[in-house]
Amino acid sequence: MRRKIVVGNWKMNGSLASNEALLKALAEKIPQTTPVDIVVCPPYPFLFQTQSYLKNSPIRWGAQNVAKFESGAFTGEVSVSMLNEFGASYVIIGHSERSTAYCESDENIATKFMMVKKAGMTPILCVGETLIEREAGIMEKVVSKQLDTIIKMYGEEIFDESVIAYEPVWAIGTDLAASPEQAQAMHQFIREKLSSNNKVAKSLKIIYGGSVNPQNALQLFSMPDVDGGLVGRASLNASDFESICHSAEI
Ligand code: PGA
Repeated sequence: MRRKIVVGNWKMNGSLASNEALLKALAEKIPQTTPVDIVVCPPYPFLFQTQSYLKNSPIRWGAQNVAKFESGAFTGEVSVSMLNEFGASYVIIGHSERSTAYCESDENIATKFMMVKKAGMTPILCVGETLIEREAGIMEKVVSKQLDTIIKMYGEEIFDESVIAYEPVWAIGTDLAASPEQAQAMHQFIREKLSSNNKVAKSLKIIYGGSVNPQNALQLFSMPDVDGGLVGRASLNASDFESICHSAEI
């Protein structure tokens, strides 16, 4: 049985004061014995603060993006080694808000995925289709292509001990979450696509993202191929996030 994982993606939200309240509340609410992997991904400037509030908590932390280079003249970028220094264990890669707004290519995303793995952190790769693509019935083709670039560049085994977040673009920030059946169908498709490598088939976690909230989390997480969630807005509220984490204790 794969251990479930719930990741909070804070996006560009928070301040020292509001994070302090949120992190303190989470550290208090989440017991050491939690059977779920719980992760928060704050904006870069708050990684130090996050590290200090969570150091005695089972909650891990990560970043929302990373550079595809190790170091050098790349103004505005943050490297994997910098994230490592702040104790980050996870990095979200290829979120649709980034790939759309900053025209990030599948090749760039693949390189970042490899960099994160090489640094010993866990990549959380976001894949998913737009509404037009779903309506055209080509969602599996779209997701397949997003995965194929990584497979072509680094082989299927790179997905060992990784996390894939299926995030249909139409469900992000819209309050229109995918139905548990829609999520399950795509998760099963992804798992079957990557199951020829035994190690990957055992260790890969596939989580759902897009308008997860305390009301729909349990149903989504109950589906056999849904290993948890990537949570945006609801991760900014300690009670909502705690409740979603509880829903993963199944
Ligand atoms: P949402 O965001 O939960 O606010 O829809 C999810 C995400 O973009 O990761």
